[in-house]
Amino acid sequence: MKLAIIGTGYVGLTTGTCLAELGHEVICVDNDPVKLEKLKSNKSPIFEPGLEELIAKNTAAGNLVFTDDISNTVKNSEVIFICVNTPPKPDGQADLKYVEAVAREISQSLNSDYKVIVDKSTVPVRTAEKVKETLLRYSDKNAKFDVVSNPEFLKEGTAVIDTLEPDRIVIGVDNEESKAVMLKVYKPLIDKSPAPVKIVSVRSAELIKHGANTFLATKISFANLIAEACEVAGADALEVLEAIGLDDRIGSKFLNPGVGFGGSCFPKDISAFKKTLEVLGIDPSLVSAIELINEHATERFVKKIEKQLWVLDGKTIGILGLAFKPNTDDIRNAPALKIISKLVADGAKIKAYDPEAMENTKKVFPNLEYCPDPYEVSKGSEALIVCTEWPEFKKLDLQQIKSLMKTPIIFDGRNIFNPSDASKNGFKYFGIGR
Ligand code: UDX
Ligand code: UDX
Repeated sequence: MKLAIIGTGYVGLTTGTCLAELGHEVICVDNDPVKLEKLKSNKSPIFEPGLEELIAKNTAAGNLVFTDDISNTVKNSEVIFICVNTPPKPDGQADLKYVEAVAREISQSLNSDYKVIVDKSTVPVRTAEKVKETLLRYSDKNAKFDVVSNPEFLKEGTAVIDTLEPDRIVIGVDNEESKAVMLKVYKPLIDKSPAPVKIVSVRSAELIKHGANTFLATKISFANLIAEACEVAGADALEVLEAIGLDDRIGSKFLNPGVGFGGSCFPKDISAFKKTLEVLGIDPSLVSAIELINEHATERFVKKIEKQLWVLDGKTIGILGLAFKPNTDDIRNAPALKIISKLVADGAKIKAYDPEAMENTKKVFPNLEYCPDPYEVSKGSEALIVCTEWPEFKKLDLQQIKSLMKTPIIFDGRNIFNPSDASKNGFKYFGIGR
């Protein structure tokens, strides 16, 4: 099938590349010339395991093309996926100006050839109706199209696997014609994947996405609440949460306490869902609590550092991990950045290392001392702070780290070290909930 992807960010680029890998002819459109130039030379603008290889393979095979020409792309495609960003407005609601702008652009190229327009971006319930209204308002009266919702559930760092081996495929449609088209799009995946395909209404599909992300964030905030209770009561959060998660009805995933969740999705989607509930006249207290606990997790961690180190002015502090999670170079809403801001405001000198996210962080904090590895970060530091659980950090030689530091103190914001190992190696160790 001939497919168009509008917006080649984390979601659009991964989706487009994987749909090409499944055998479709995919044209990806973006209005960022720098991004397009990279993509045209087979370079991925983002670090995402496996993605660059698939871009090169499918570009060479001729079924993946990058362009800024939305008009011809729409004319030549049967299905058009809207994958542009939906950032938060100052009051938390989703800003849909890019979705609207793209819908208007698409409308100019619709004609009597039937097309399906897919809302892939995460949007509040009933957005598809607004997209349809927009398309009707600006398109030729003979234009034939349907708008459907097809949320993605990919996680950064495992985006390619999540797309090619999904837990479920959710397709929100309101008629048989668009349902048939969407099933044809996913046929190559459905044929080889055991994942259930949920055909639901458009509104349900929109709510599934916000609901799923809010539930995952709820688990994390719950874990952070338990962690605080454990610290105050003198229990071990990992023991408590492991045993809680062994109940099949609860499950152990996404119960890791830490410095709070970040990224481009959870913080934005949770606040957008809260606004949606308010608009629907529903009490959003549960969602507000999830947000508050998340902010508190980061603040509590910084307070712990301030309490132990007392005066931070002039002290050198080492940061391990800048990305909002491992296996990505994405620093959007990364807890590390909030922690660094606070420490810098207190007068601390920061040395930092991240395997992939230093270039992005330099744009926000040009004046930190960026180091080539964790050992270099440790040199002369009065405390080491773990903000992201990159696998390589778990294998560090603690004896060597200790010999390089001025004072051996670790604040482990992701519980990657065993407290007794750290103590045996002579560290003063502070984990989360332990
Ligand atoms: C975004 C949303 O934030 C998320 O909620 C949604 O589920 C999918 O899209 P992401 O892919 O991470 O997530 O966004 P981003 O990396 O910002 O990519 C958006 C892309 O769209 C950018 O490459 C941007 O240049 C492009 N874009 C944006 C357009 O091509 N045209 C526009 O009008 C606006
Ligand atoms: C999330 C959703 O998981 C995905 O389905 C959706 O499509 C996009 O948003 P992503 O933001 O890429 O994906 O990463 P995710 O693995 O969900 O982690 C989000 C944040 O939660 C990270 O900051 C991570 O460190 C944090 N987290 C996750 C915890 O603090 N504890 C956990 O147990 C799990």
